[in-house]
Amino acid sequence: MEDKVIIITGGAGFIGTNFVRMISKNALDSKIIVIDLLTYAGNIENIKDLIDSKKIIFIQCDISNTQKIFDIFDQYNPEYIINFAAESHVDRSILDSRKFIETNVLGTQTLLEAARRNWTVDNGFKDDVMYLQVSTDEVYGSIEKGYFTEKNPLDPHSPYSASKASADLLVKSYFDTYGFPAVITRCSNNYGPYQFPEKLIPLIINNIVSGKKLPVYGDGKNIRDWIHVSDHCNAIIDILNKSNSGETYNIGSNTEWNNIDLVRLIIKVVRAEMEKNDGFQKYSKFSPNEITENLIEFVKDRPGHDKRYAIDSTKIMEVIGWKPKIFFEKGLRDTVHWYLSNQQWVKKIVSGEYKKYYKQMYERREVLK
Ligand code: NAD
Ligand code: DAU
Repeated sequence: MEDKVIIITGGAGFIGTNFVRMISKNALDSKIIVIDLLTYAGNIENIKDLIDSKKIIFIQCDISNTQKIFDIFDQYNPEYIINFAAESHVDRSILDSRKFIETNVLGTQTLLEAARRNWTVDNGFKDDVMYLQVSTDEVYGSIEKGYFTEKNPLDPHSPYSASKASADLLVKSYFDTYGFPAVITRCSNNYGPYQFPEKLIPLIINNIVSGKKLPVYGDGKNIRDWIHVSDHCNAIIDILNKSNSGETYNIGSNTEWNNIDLVRLIIKVVRAEMEKNDGFQKYSKFSPNEITENLIEFVKDRPGHDKRYAIDSTKIMEVIGWKPKIFFEKGLRDTVHWYLSNQQWVKKIVSGEYKKYYKQMYERREVLK
């Protein structure tokens, strides 16, 4: 990825921030352009130092705004597009799916079309260009036993995953119809720094710090496969450097946890971090000995809640030579440490729109016996 113009969409969100921070260290000769609408999930503070030091160019823009996106592509002539921008939270898609279609489906179509226009030459497409669609393992749906490979049919169940599956099919259609240079990645559940505290791991950490109950949906037996965000970002860089066009890759780390065991582990890790570091206790509503499993509250399940996500990542390991490096217990400890060390960042986020969302999602939710 030397000497390229790289457009990264959604670069002020969780994974996008980690990716932009990683790539701005690695691809020093490249021009990095971040496009982000700065929705509730996007936070300019995450990448402000990189903007100020001119390591990246930031453009606030909706990826479904055709004219603006075409203009940006005309101005910068990118060689790589990495599309992280999305509405990403399943629970919010259940409350209102409209934006998920606008951003995840129409936004993807807009980027594909902008790139097709910009990359078309007489005999096809420019050399050395690639569009990478950041997708999710949720497009395969739920699996009781075994693992999904890239060959499994798509079977999404939530409006979020349906919108991501639609986007994947659009990308595939551009490759099949035009020979458009594109790849799709489908990653499992990410964790790590900068994740918005609507998602399970940062929500539980934040609830402990702010003296709230810990909501576990249903019986807590749903299973997710967790991967550290830096392993996901490294996989994307490796794919951009090594993959042929038209390929799809699962990215997972075979780290399955059911939700209740994971929440119990987070409780232990937060308590241990608080006991080790007096500085962290000043932010917390609970003293370390109050941080126990008694805080857990089983609440009404998420409608259509997928039971288990599990993917087979053999293809990326064999074809690209990538493998995950971060051991989950260590990654989780570092993540808890990051959240406890960055309470200003958290407090700012949970002060505005989040309060309204939390109230709507949790305050009147039935508590199960
Ligand atoms: P996020 O919600 O933290 O960030 C999304 C970013 O996209 C935000 O910065 C937001 O401002 C921006 N955005 C939203 N709508 C936009 C629009 N219309 N135009 C421009 N920017 C817009 O999401 P995330 O967890 O970082 O996920 C990033 C991508 O990775 C998504 O495509 C998601 O589907 C995919 N993914 C996420 C996970 C995960 O566990 N978080 C796993 C696999 C795949
Ligand atoms: O699998 C990849 C996907 O992982 C990504 O595509 C999504 O963008 C990302 O949000 C994530 O989706 P999940 O629905 O799996 O993540 P979430 O953190 O919302 O929930 C993880 C599990 O925890 C899930 O089984 C629901 C449960 N849960 C979640 C919340 C927020 C609870 O029990 N309580 C909660 O309060």
